[in-house]
Amino acid sequence: MNEQSPIIAAENVVEYLRAQEAKSMLRFLTCGSVDDGKSTLIGRLLYDTKLIFEDQLASLEADSRKHGTAGENIDFALLVDGLEAEREQGITIDVAYRFFATDKRKFIVADTPGHEEYTRNMATGASTADLAIVLIDSRQGVLRQTRRHSFIASLLGIRHIVLAVNKIDLMDYSKEVFDKIVADYMDFASDLGFKTITPIPMSARFGDNVTTKSEKTAWFDGPTLLEHLETVPIDAGNEKAPFRFPVQLVNRPNLNFRGFSGQIASGTVSVGDTVVVAKSGQSSTVKEIVVHGGNLERAVEGQAVTIALNDEIEVSRGNMLVAPSDRPHVADQMQAHIIWFDANPMIPGRSYILRTETDSVNCSITDLKYEIDVNTFAHEAAKSLEMNGVGVCNISLQSPIAFDAYKSNRVTGNFVIIDRFTNATLGAGMIDFPLRRAENVHWQATEVTKASRAEMKNQKPAVVWFTGFSGSGKSTIANALEKYLHVNGKHTYMLDGDNIRHGLNRDLGFKDEDRVENIRRVAEVAKLMSDAGLIVLVSFISPFRSERRMARDLMDDGEFIEVFVDTPLEECAKRDPKGLYAKAKAGEIANFTGISSPYEQPENPELHLHTVGHEPQELAMKIADFLTNR
Ligand code: ADX
Repeated sequence: MNEQSPIIAAENVVEYLRAQEAKSMLRFLTCGSVDDGKSTLIGRLLYDTKLIFEDQLASLEADSRKHGTAGENIDFALLVDGLEAEREQGITIDVAYRFFATDKRKFIVADTPGHEEYTRNMATGASTADLAIVLIDSRQGVLRQTRRHSFIASLLGIRHIVLAVNKIDLMDYSKEVFDKIVADYMDFASDLGFKTITPIPMSARFGDNVTTKSEKTAWFDGPTLLEHLETVPIDAGNEKAPFRFPVQLVNRPNLNFRGFSGQIASGTVSVGDTVVVAKSGQSSTVKEIVVHGGNLERAVEGQAVTIALNDEIEVSRGNMLVAPSDRPHVADQMQAHIIWFDANPMIPGRSYILRTETDSVNCSITDLKYEIDVNTFAHEAAKSLEMNGVGVCNISLQSPIAFDAYKSNRVTGNFVIIDRFTNATLGAGMIDFPLRRAENVHWQATEVTKASRAEMKNQKPAVVWFTGFSGSGKSTIANALEKYLHVNGKHTYMLDGDNIRHGLNRDLGFKDEDRVENIRRVAEVAKLMSDAGLIVLVSFISPFRSERRMARDLMDDGEFIEVFVDTPLEECAKRDPKGLYAKAKAGEIANFTGISSPYEQPENPELHLHTVGHEPQELAMKIADFLTNR
């Protein structure tokens, strides 16, 4: 029945797919808990559709004897679990994409790992999938993981679910067991908006109902897995959707040619069509559509092309060429669903990078509206989003991006959140809608400027930012510095943690999310004061690199002077001017910096002051000299 196609190496995929162009393509993924048998199922599917070369089969048999957990039978999981590490741990850890075809359809399958911390891979693997196979171990039934994965699948816009009730052989092919699991699943999944949910009793290990109908489940009158995968109607592609072309690269091989390269996210484009640059609204017409090996008259969703226009207009990477009649949103604030992957929680107010298909901008979460409990789907108040958490947030960007709502376009409506220091991917997001609240609020240019204000005072504005442990001497040195500057006719102002926390920030405590907000507010105040022309002295523990960096980025170049007041923790605890260390050590104060809350040392402060053996006045003079020499 099936073609004898080999498994295709990644570099040949494009050519292979081209040859298969006439067939429709189904993208699916498998998800389930560890040991539910995902890899075995995919292995079985490939084996039964004869997609394995003889030599691979031979090595599989040899491997099975070495590592296998299936006794005398072939362990199909070995076929899929490529990585040594995985074999050693007996779990699957990375997304693996596999391509195969039958004579009815071609398939791309993402094999996604099951254990809790790998939500990341699931979200990455699932974002383009049409269908998810949710595996359930018949002996265990519906688990917390089943609910989580199904919920994330629905968030990611997957419309079709196969409920693979696996290992039914271990439950004597029992109809009762199957019916109970299906009922349990339907109970919660019916609200998740899936178009189809197709339950199938299966034994991946013995091949029951994978590609051939099992006689042992005579009571089951549904399709086999393969039959279903070959026939499930796939939603019409994005070809009918409005044209979206995120520009990945401005291509200028010589002076006579300037083209924009990328992959068509949705819709179609033809030579002569009018297109608009999403962010600027400038328009032009399509002159040429260039692909590898020639020109096209028309290109469609999914194709990688280079588009040349008839007019010289400004289009940079990160922008989008779009249909003039139906344009994406362009905004710098939005509401989105975020799935958080990282071990460090998402904290509102902290600055991250938001990366879309082609664009990358600084962002911060201005409001975590609620978290969604992945078990009950209840909305719950939350101050931060822990690993594997899903939340609905308002996001503010440093500059506008072009996007669609995720529900209308999964390519132009998704983003990832990146750490500004490590570049790690921390979370994934799906945009709900733009927020218009800032749209009618414009920056006002004032006639009296920062420069003229500073000139009147005959000084250069600065933000001297003291960071260090409680009791390290920040305030003492800052006070000495302020006195000196004041005597010398400078207009200064001091922002001190202990004082500000009695007023502006009196609603904040000492949890990480409170400290982030504490610093965000004081940095904004310092910015206003420097704009007023002042020399601002900021004395806060400010324990996190990320927020000190955020404060630095807010100020003009050269204006932010980070002063690391470096006093060893033991010394601070010995001095203990407020008696807080004694209390913290006795467990009377929670989240105390250095004791039960972290302090991240500055890496490149403008001034690094060791306090032990030095007088505060002496250290203050070092800062004064630095200010003078600027
Ligand atoms: S920050 O971490 O958010 O920058 P901030 O400088 O505003 O802290 O406040 C620190 C001051 O609050 C300390 O000098 C100390 O007097 C007081 N304090 C009270 N509880 C704590 C705590 N748990 N950790 C650190 N400082 C605390």
